Amino acid sequence: MGKLRIVVAGALAATVLYSVGPSAAGAAPQLTAAPARPATGSSVAHLPGTPSTDLPLRTLARKHGLGFGTAVDMDVLDSDPEYREHVSREFSAVTAENAMKWESLEPTRGEYNWGPADELVEFARRNGQKVHGHTLIWHNQAPAWLNEGVADGSISSAELRDIVRNHITTVVKHFRGKVRAWDVVNEAFTDGDNPVLRDSIFLQHLGPNYIADALRWAHAADPNAKLFLNDYAIDNINPKSTAYYELAKQLRKQRVPLHGMGFQGHLDLQYPLPIDAPQNLARFDRLGLQTAFTEVDVRYFLPVDTYKEAGQVGSFNTLLQACLLTPRCVMFTVWGFTDKYSWVPGWFEGQGGATPMDENFQPKPAYRGLQQVLAVAADPNSRRGF
Ligand code: XIL
Repeated sequence: MGKLRIVVAGALAATVLYSVGPSAAGAAPQLTAAPARPATGSSVAHLPGTPSTDLPLRTLARKHGLGFGTAVDMDVLDSDPEYREHVSREFSAVTAENAMKWESLEPTRGEYNWGPADELVEFARRNGQKVHGHTLIWHNQAPAWLNEGVADGSISSAELRDIVRNHITTVVKHFRGKVRAWDVVNEAFTDGDNPVLRDSIFLQHLGPNYIADALRWAHAADPNAKLFLNDYAIDNINPKSTAYYELAKQLRKQRVPLHGMGFQGHLDLQYPLPIDAPQNLARFDRLGLQTAFTEVDVRYFLPVDTYKEAGQVGSFNTLLQACLLTPRCVMFTVWGFTDKYSWVPGWFEGQGGATPMDENFQPKPAYRGLQQVLAVAADPNSRRGF
């Protein structure tokens, strides 16, 4: 009896074994599926798509208890009514693309510019959306006065500690009860085979405990906010994601208030698909952490062709399926939803097309793919708690 091995690629990688049944000479062999494993849980036996998959992403995500978000550019929100309309219709979560970064909130020392960030919070409230706070501590987009002061020695290490504590406390208190979760430290590790904590002004002057301190300060300022670490290139199991896993394990053991791990999900078709994202998220889930894809986009070299378009569908779907497979994966956020306003062309020469809608807000295959992944019936036992 022959065995035909079919490997189904994708996030739900599975090996399906078929046995080839006896067949009359000349007739095509008959494929009989190996008996399915008996269902153990209550009601996962039937998972058909819902009759209508053409619903807004937030609606389809809701039945899974999943928040579906986008990054929001506040200038565009003010100037483009079509953009605004899509943000409110499609998404149940919003992240400020820039407005809550340190350089935006405190461009001059001690003088806060709350305007655009407050506007986003108010927009979210009106539209029944939750706000994902991004970000308190990051080596990029820190204000010039801070970088310069540290560099020229006019800000001492002790003073930097006060400044960081103050910034975190002021910002988290300002948004208390209005921001569901914070990316407390963004991009703390280096890349490569031996990731170490990034050599930022924070590591240099506050030491490696700055991460635990930042989490504690944020928790004191809003005990109900979920506190996340967040980074790129950690979607699969690799040395960098393992460094985060070890750090998270240690912080949890020390009872430091860490509640979630954010996976940015900036994918690029020239690199391998993070096919083991489900296994990667699962290990953080087992630590009792929430997980989220926080900045998903899938870029490629222009011009687009049908293979790239199909590759993009698979990439978005891989991450979304990984999230659905992870019991506490609470949110899936795209870093912009229309190619009209994506950060990609400005940052990666020759690349683009990275979002689910084209420049005229028309759904691309990637958007349809996301809808279809979400259209499976929700597991009634799932309690994601977004
Ligand atoms: C990007 C924004 O999209 C740009 O508008 C800005 O000029 C630079 O930052 N990882 C992050 C995000 O955590 O904050 C970055 O956002 C993209 C990479």
